[in-house]
Amino acid sequence: MFIETILKGKRILVTGGGSGLGKEMASEYARLGAHVFICGRRESVLNDTVEEITAAGGIAKAHVCDIRAAGAVDEMIDKIWLDGGALTGLVNNAAGNFISPTKDLSTNGFDAISNIVFKGSFYVTHACGKRWIEEKTKASVISILTTWVWNGGPYTVPSAMSKAGINIMTKSLAAEWGKYGIRLNAISPGPFPTKGAWDRLNPDQGIDEDLGNSSIPMGRNGCMSELRNLATFLMADGCEYLTGQNIAIDGAAHLASGGNFYQSLDSLTDEDWGGIKEMIKASNEVDKSNRSN
Ligand code: HXC
Repeated sequence: MFIETILKGKRILVTGGGSGLGKEMASEYARLGAHVFICGRRESVLNDTVEEITAAGGIAKAHVCDIRAAGAVDEMIDKIWLDGGALTGLVNNAAGNFISPTKDLSTNGFDAISNIVFKGSFYVTHACGKRWIEEKTKASVISILTTWVWNGGPYTVPSAMSKAGINIMTKSLAAEWGKYGIRLNAISPGPFPTKGAWDRLNPDQGIDEDLGNSSIPMGRNGCMSELRNLATFLMADGCEYLTGQNIAIDGAAHLASGGNFYQSLDSLTDEDWGGIKEMIKASNEVDKSNRSN
């Protein structure tokens, strides 16, 4: 879809870029000429992704960072700036989520998700933004959201609330930082199956299983190439007047049937939920064993 040098000269940080959608976007940006930085909590996962990108001829570096810690974020952004200059782009992709009846959430469960999505995305955007403004660097920020920011996300309330906050950050800062040449947009993907998300949103079925496909007018999940192309379009030069927008890429799912989990989860019993919680927690433990801190 794009010439292979379209992102040459760009320096882009993708949070949560070691796996899932973040890895897809980071790899594509590197393939198209950008110098890519990825961050996350699992060092081995990050290193594997850097190795893959490098083996394919791209340039990528990894930083272990939990974006919930504002100090650690600032330290990482400093290191990146010292390593070749300002970033020109940021993708707020790192997220945490799991399905649960809201009545059963502990405050720790709420904090685990909202501290990553709501606070962490702000910390990274703010750490980059203040440097861009100071140094008069133009930049593009993309936040990965969800269509639930428009109509709510029953059974994923901390995620829906947090992403709605980042939607408003996108719109607010598009206005406030427009004069600095900093633009902010968002992408709201429908179902693009990845292991990390499906382990927590669809734990009783495999990643190969469709997640409510019957309610998607296009009758299928998204293809990663479609997401990669949209993320490239928003990161590349040539359409800078586009800012403050949240673009859904979901085959019209949210327009047809809400695009959230109400229909598929509302009839589950407490017993069903007990089993689901165990499965999700088992996946969380596997991930934790790969974390460096
Ligand atoms: C109820 C749960 C739970 C579950 C965890 N908790 N899983 N409560 N049901 N299934 C509770 C724990 O009991 C604990 O509370 C609290 O949450 C924190 O749990 P930890 O495991 O200690 O948290 P932490 O290690 O910080 O992990 C954060 C996480 C985890 C969010 C819980 O899932 C994670 O790291 N996720 C990152 C990857 C991810 O989620 N990817 C999917 C993104 S999908 P107590 O009270 O017991 O201490 C996405 C898609 C959006 O965002 C749109 C799609 C269309």
